[in-house]
Amino acid sequence: MRDTWSPDTYNRFKEQRSQPFYDLCAMVQARPGMRVLDLGCGPGDMTRYLHEKLAARETLGLDASDNMLAQARPREGNGLRFVRGKIEELDVPGEFDVIFSNAALQWVENHEALFEKFAARLTPGGQLAVQMPYNEKSEFHRAARDAAAEFREPLGGYVRHLVALAPEVYSQLLHRLGFAEQKVLLRIYPHELPSLDAVVEFYRGSLLTAYEARLDAAAYERFVARYGEILHQRYADARPFFFPFPRILLWGRKSPRA
Ligand SMILES: C[S@@+](CC[C@H](N)C(=O)[O-])C[C@H]1O[C@@H](n2cnc3c(N)ncnc32)[C@H](O)[C@@H]1O
Repeated sequence: MRDTWSPDTYNRFKEQRSQPFYDLCAMVQARPGMRVLDLGCGPGDMTRYLHEKLAARETLGLDASDNMLAQARPREGNGLRFVRGKIEELDVPGEFDVIFSNAALQWVENHEALFEKFAARLTPGGQLAVQMPYNEKSEFHRAARDAAAEFREPLGGYVRHLVALAPEVYSQLLHRLGFAEQKVLLRIYPHELPSLDAVVEFYRGSLLTAYEARLDAAAYERFVARYGEILHQRYADARPFFFPFPRILLWGRKSPRA
């Protein structure tokens, strides 16, 4: 599949995308000499921030996108490194004191199995910190699924669904996997975007990349235009446009005794 992640498009809404990251960072407790893994690290600026904030001994940023890694690699140094890999394969050696993932696990299936893998790779007392959107039920996502239904043929029937489980299911999962402490939050981030069209641009950097990867360039632009039309049929174009965005933030710490 084509690499449709674009650091420039993604970073266009940096302010809206970065607050949840800082909130997630604040949930992680720093300990001396930690080894940290950042899954789906993207352009690496936030991984660098995390590495420095935790004064980590070593931080590994992992991402599957060459475009993102090209931006991340110049930020390497002082124990920070970036590697190409798939989150679900977790093909990195050793154990970690922190496994961190901001806005990436919504792209990976089967979270129960995934979290089992994470738990197995944490040191005693190790921490898991994850933030992901929880907006499968939002009208903006429904509109994308409706556009996808109209493009069934070129998309081969593909429809993007978010894989996030309900917050209480993560709480159960953390408990079952031996996390002695946990915090699972559902938080709505109230964004003001310049206009309704900015919602389309916001999602170009994330949700819509899954459709971009499956369509040729001309069909993708028609798809995006149709997505915008559907939004305009359903919403008044207020300026600024209020855009509430639900996200799950979860943190767990394993018992210090193995
Ligand atoms: C929305 S960006 C988040 C980037 C960064 N964590 C941040 O907070 O800015 C999602 C990132 O996850 C990566 N990604 C998506 N699915 C992946 C997978 N299965 N394995 C590895 N990386 C993946 C994408 O390449 C992209 O860089």
